[in-house]
Amino acid sequence: MQDTVKDRFYIEAGSWNNGFLMKVGSCAFTILLAHWSNQAWFLNFLTRTLLEIINKGEELKKTLFSLENHIVVITGAAGMLGRQHADAVAGSGGVPILLDLHEQPVKQLAADLKEKHGVEATGYTVDITHEGQIAQNCAQVLERFGRIDALVNNAANNPTVESQDGKNFSRLENFPLETWEADLAVGLTGAFLCAKHYGYSIAKNQSGGVILNISSDLGLIAPDQRLYKKPGLPDEQQLVKPVTYSVVKTGLIGLTRYLATYWPSKVRCNAICPGGVEAGQPEEFLKELTSRIPIGRLARKDEYKGVIIFLLSEASSYLSGSVITVDGGRTCM
Ligand SMILES: NC(=O)c1ccc[n+]([C@@H]2O[C@H](COP(=O)([O-])OP(=O)(O)OC[C@H]3O[C@@H](n4cnc5c(N)ncnc54)[C@H](O)[C@@H]3O)[C@@H](O)[C@H]2O)c1
Repeated sequence: MQDTVKDRFYIEAGSWNNGFLMKVGSCAFTILLAHWSNQAWFLNFLTRTLLEIINKGEELKKTLFSLENHIVVITGAAGMLGRQHADAVAGSGGVPILLDLHEQPVKQLAADLKEKHGVEATGYTVDITHEGQIAQNCAQVLERFGRIDALVNNAANNPTVESQDGKNFSRLENFPLETWEADLAVGLTGAFLCAKHYGYSIAKNQSGGVILNISSDLGLIAPDQRLYKKPGLPDEQQLVKPVTYSVVKTGLIGLTRYLATYWPSKVRCNAICPGGVEAGQPEEFLKELTSRIPIGRLARKDEYKGVIIFLLSEASSYLSGSVITVDGGRTCM
């Protein structure tokens, strides 16, 4: 029977464990001998054995969680979390293809990741609301790298309701149609267009690949509008989380399920629903929000890296159509 990657991992891990115990025993014995005889070669032997043990551990990690040479397209890569996703990919040996609206930030990010991780990170200016730009970029990436292994649909208009004042355009009754269309164009239509082009290319790979959609805890629950309330303001001026955020993030979960069954044996598609990230929000808001989170705090911006690597790698080889909540427990109450 053919070994799966997981089987191989356990077989290797099992035999490595036995070897590990023998080596620990021989190390202890060697330390005693080195101590008694004070011979330099004993210390050399000891160092080499320890290095061998550490290297073997690194190899096992690579088997399951490695993204070695995986070509991973990330939209909205120059934003707060896009940078973290890109760093996670590059840190696991993958090649992040960084897409965002402006040239300078993506080029700089690519240069930084290249220097830090020694991978061919590459930045492109692509507006994902324009199908022509996506199609052109997809062809460019294929020409340069030969294939695409994964797509992370991360770009979104991220309205920060705290910064709005005057007539409140975040409220449903004032919400401009143009804002509705612009938010859906990036978060939902953009994700569809990227799946259509990069996703189709992934499906044509002999070994397929992965699409990962970045939804939100607000794809699962309604926003608690009490969090945004300012004392003393009349109801019609109170700040709210805009309707488009809920619609886009819920829509991405539908897109995830559709894609998981569209190229079922080739493309695994999953979504994550992250909770809020601490980024200097007002103290009162933080106090209110954290009181609704069992872990008792918002996420650190680098705290989604683990789930990103897991979902892009062989470690999640039997996961598709899943919606993974990563929210400190907020939506379980
Ligand atoms: N920050 C959070 O607390 C949080 C929580 C849950 C989910 N999320 C989701 O995570 C993702 C990233 O969030 P973030 O905080 O890094 O947001 P961000 O605003 O910092 O980054 C979004 C990026 O998308 C880019 N973008 C916008 N329109 C684009 C377009 N048409 N084409 C290409 N790129 C475009 C922006 O230039 C920006 O760099 C979003 O989908 C967001 O909804 C964020």
